Amino acid sequence: MQNQLKTILEEAKEQLKNAVSLTEAEELRVKLLGKKGKMTEILRSMGSLSPEDRKQMGMIANATRAEIEGLLSERMNALKEMQKNARLQAETIDVTEPGVSRKLGTKHPISITIDQVCQVFTSMGFSVVEGPEIETVFYNFDALNAPKNHPSRDMSDTFYITDDVLLRTQTSPVQVRTLMKQKPPIKVIAPGRCFRCDTPDATHSPMFHQIEGLVVGENITMADLKGTLDAFAKQLFGPEAKTKFRPHHFPFTEPSAEMDVSCFKCGGTGCNVCKGSGWIEILGCGMVHPHVLQVGGVDTEKYTGFAFGMGVERVAMLKYGIDDIRLLYENDMRFIEQFR
Ligand code: DAH
Repeated sequence: MQNQLKTILEEAKEQLKNAVSLTEAEELRVKLLGKKGKMTEILRSMGSLSPEDRKQMGMIANATRAEIEGLLSERMNALKEMQKNARLQAETIDVTEPGVSRKLGTKHPISITIDQVCQVFTSMGFSVVEGPEIETVFYNFDALNAPKNHPSRDMSDTFYITDDVLLRTQTSPVQVRTLMKQKPPIKVIAPGRCFRCDTPDATHSPMFHQIEGLVVGENITMADLKGTLDAFAKQLFGPEAKTKFRPHHFPFTEPSAEMDVSCFKCGGTGCNVCKGSGWIEILGCGMVHPHVLQVGGVDTEKYTGFAFGMGVERVAMLKYGIDDIRLLYENDMRFIEQFR
């Protein structure tokens, strides 16, 4: 029995040395000192010894047990320390290591242009409103007085989702939504995305942006339209900018016009930007057609209004001298960063 105890102790020493984790050490403890452990087994078997031997063996067994316990707790403490050190090592932060530099983005020329135009109009007391990009045929065409056979309604020009739902081809439906929601006096601009079935080339994109304007009130006349848009052009392009209005046709305005701005590159003498004419077409406009006002529930005996719409890409391209609309959608930072 004494030999047995000796072997157990020797084995325990060896095994503890090889235990490299706390779990392993704990398993060893159970194996040696647990209820079914080797030491317990021996202590139990001492019942068959004579009282003399039992006393002596008991002392040896207890000493062995105490030694094993001591070795166990020593090893466990060492393992705990090792674990802690390993964790600290793993969590070490090298404060001298250079940080990851996060590049600051820049505003896109389209956003800059929208912001500038909105800024000019809000300074004149307009508020900015928005409408959905997914529209109904009613708001995009019917309510805007577009004839049933108008070519812009064709599948080849408009992205239809269903027979009644489409991607808006213009921001003009926001006029109708605003008229239905607000009572005159109304003074709003509505920037946003529009979509048309165009094959991309230097001047066409199936997705583009417009800014719509709508003013409705008592005694609003063509003179208000001209005065407002001339003031806008002077603020956006500089005080020397001149404007001129040419008759045009839109279903939702009567009379309708297009506004040209004197070329801001050559000042009107003729250059490559204005194609020699000295003028640049900038927007469509007109007095809101009574049919549109009526759809919006406006009393056309009391109120009149004017509206306008411009292409944001066109303004941005002219302002920044960008010769291909596709550059605006490639999101090449080398391009975008130029317009800070
Ligand atoms: N919606 C027109 C277009 O996409 C632009 C336009 C013209 C808007 C005249 C207007 C307007 O509000 O009065 O071509």
